[in-house]
Amino acid sequence: MNTSSKILVTGGTGYIGSHTTVELIIQGYDVVIVDNLSNSELFILDRIEEITGVKPAFYDYDLTNRNQIRQIFSEHPDIKGIIHFAASKAVGESVEKPLLYYRNNLNSLINLLEEMQPAGISHFVFSSSCTVYGQPDKLPVTEHAPVKPALSPYGNTKKICEDILKDTIAGGKDINVEALRYFNPIGAHASGLIGELPRGIPNNLVPFITQTAIGIREELKVFGDDYNTPDGSCIRDYIHVVDLAKAHIVALRRMMARENKSKYEMFNLGTGNGYSVLEVIKSFEKVSGHQLNYKIVDRRPGDIEQIWADTTLANNELGWKAELGIDEMMRSSWEWEKKYRNASKKY
Ligand code: NAD
Ligand code: WQD
Repeated sequence: MNTSSKILVTGGTGYIGSHTTVELIIQGYDVVIVDNLSNSELFILDRIEEITGVKPAFYDYDLTNRNQIRQIFSEHPDIKGIIHFAASKAVGESVEKPLLYYRNNLNSLINLLEEMQPAGISHFVFSSSCTVYGQPDKLPVTEHAPVKPALSPYGNTKKICEDILKDTIAGGKDINVEALRYFNPIGAHASGLIGELPRGIPNNLVPFITQTAIGIREELKVFGDDYNTPDGSCIRDYIHVVDLAKAHIVALRRMMARENKSKYEMFNLGTGNGYSVLEVIKSFEKVSGHQLNYKIVDRRPGDIEQIWADTTLANNELGWKAELGIDEMMRSSWEWEKKYRNASKKY
């Protein structure tokens, strides 16, 4: 494998995209980022450079604009693969603005698929989600579990995108696809220079915890303690974003080494361990030394009770395994929050 291959990372200034860009650069890849900055900040590019010594080529373009994609491919005819992170991802917002979600997430994918083949690109990694499983009937959940009706337009876009990719290959297009179903990515880079940067009030648990501890939010609301779980709070499979980032490079390398140029595969990316909301809080309190101000409130509509991954397929086929545990996830999230707020005084 030629490690100087050029890779297009869509959504590369976003949370998972920025961590993956760092790992790609460290492993010798040449990265081009396209991101319309709808949910990320330009300074992340400088942070990527600070960590790796390399500033990737960057396009502030919108993937729903097909001409802009074509322009990138014509300026970089040596792009060999695409890692497609760019999407709108807020579940609640997708319920209020379904058309925005369908337009952005579906059109971006279709445009990339239509433009990549004439540009001679045949490798594609797609960011999917454990959301496609809904509440699985059996735990841990394997890739064979049925896809359940989506609980939100956002979740539906992930299901439809997976279908679009499968149908495109079935229709005879010569492309390789790895669809990676992420469980709950949290944590931040060990440098504390990049991490999750939600705009406004966070929807997800961990940024809400760190923002509460640093004093931006008054208290964390724990959504329900009457679920059928050992401590009554919901269980998720939290995975460190750096472990997740590394899986993308393994998946990319696997495709590029393959003779067959028309294959669709999907993998669960989690740790295989479930933690409850209260266990996550305990881990945070332990590693930060902060007592978190939280209270138990009613269940959040649409939440599933519990899910964690069977990662056997990714372990065996990709030769990848998550290495970092919950304490390291919480420690790095906290270091990032402190470093970012101290540097920017943005609250
Ligand atoms: P993010 O919002 O931090 O990153 C996505 C990036 O894409 C942002 O920087 C945004 O500006 C950009 N973007 C959005 N629409 C675009 C467009 N039309 N053109 C160009 N750029 C555009 O999100 P993330 O957490 O890094 O998630 C990355 C991917 O992983 C998404 O596809 C998301 O659905 C998926 N995913 C995320 C999670 C999670 O909990 N974070 C879980 C499962 C799957
Ligand atoms: C985790 C747990 C909440 C906030 C979402 C998307 C899913 C996927 C990952 C992209 C739950 C509880 C949360 C709070 C709380 N994204 N919680 N108080 O709901 O597992 O999944 O992100 O594909 O599609 O739905 O993640 O971080 O929102 O919640 O008690 O203020 O924390 O009830 O049990 P979730 P989350």
